[in-house]
Amino acid sequence: MIHITRRERFNAAHRLFRDDFTDEKNMEVFGKCSNPNWHGHNYELYVTVKGEINSETGFLVNLKTLSKVIQSKVIVKLDHKNINLEVDFMKGKLASTENLAVGIWKEIEESVKNIGTNLHCVKVIESENNYVEYFGPA
Ligand code: NI
Repeated sequence: MIHITRRERFNAAHRLFRDDFTDEKNMEVFGKCSNPNWHGHNYELYVTVKGEINSETGFLVNLKTLSKVIQSKVIVKLDHKNINLEVDFMKGKLASTENLAVGIWKEIEESVKNIGTNLHCVKVIESENNYVEYFGPA
């Protein structure tokens, strides 16, 4: 078993809030990420896949192909977008890094299988101090 990781990046806006909380309560629970007028992050996405080395190529998977999957399935939907308002797979969910990682996993899982490998981890870095790793449903 071997792992390989592809990094992609996207910039996106979001707001962490609940409709049923006051602005004060949202600020208390979600901090600066609840700013009513949105804000952005320069996100980094690390997609790790696992499997065996193909003896013909020496690769686990062609990283260009993996990059195309990530780009076409999630980056086009996220980059320079408002996660709360414009991203179909985040509709009705809190725009947290945790939910984003789970949503990205679901969006790319099948396509990753179709290129002959398996997802191991979706890691989303929101800021230099905070990141989330999702290893799939328990
Ligand atoms: Ni934020």
